[in-house]
Amino acid sequence: MKSFVATGLLGVFLTLTSCVHAGDSKVNYPEGYLGWAHIKSMIIEPGHALENPFQGLHHVYGNQKAIKGFEDSHFPDGSVLVFDLVQDKRLNKTIQEGERKLVGVMHKNKNIYGNTGGWGFEGFAGNSHTQRLVKDKGKSCFSCHESQSKHDFVFAKPRK
Ligand code: HEC
Repeated sequence: MKSFVATGLLGVFLTLTSCVHAGDSKVNYPEGYLGWAHIKSMIIEPGHALENPFQGLHHVYGNQKAIKGFEDSHFPDGSVLVFDLVQDKRLNKTIQEGERKLVGVMHKNKNIYGNTGGWGFEGFAGNSHTQRLVKDKGKSCFSCHESQSKHDFVFAKPRK
């Protein structure tokens, strides 16, 4: 009887833990990020090393939790950073925002994303909230962000 209960409990426990992992390991679309703090913007020109796929005009946004991370380079779990990339449309000596190319996301959770510096990486194509671009669990994103280990793998520095 005891071992039956124990096995039953173990089964429930294993089911629960695998649900948590399977359910949470995907980085969610950052709903509402246009209302978050705007950290900075940058235009990446053709010919730059990041041209493919990041050529264009991007803005970086951070949620409330991420703001603290920019102060001391320790982003708490729940921090979300967004790389919002649109085309840089040149018009009458201005550079304007064109169509959205992609929305890059970094979501901090040390337990779930331990293999990639505690950050989950994802990209959403164009204006889609569901069409995911990252196929390797963020390994290729992290291979570049890894160089920023002193800043918790984050490149952007807020405007002074
Ligand atoms: C070859 C290098 C490189 C790769 C690969 C790369 N990034 Fe980045 N990423 C950068 C740089 C450089 C910045 C800073 C841009 C700025 O300062 O405006 C950045 C910024 C970001 C930001 C804003 C937070 C920060 O670190 O500044 C997010 C979110 C982001 N990248 C997501 C991704 C995702 C998702 C992938 C994979 C699909 C990815 N990156 C792949 C170089 C890279």
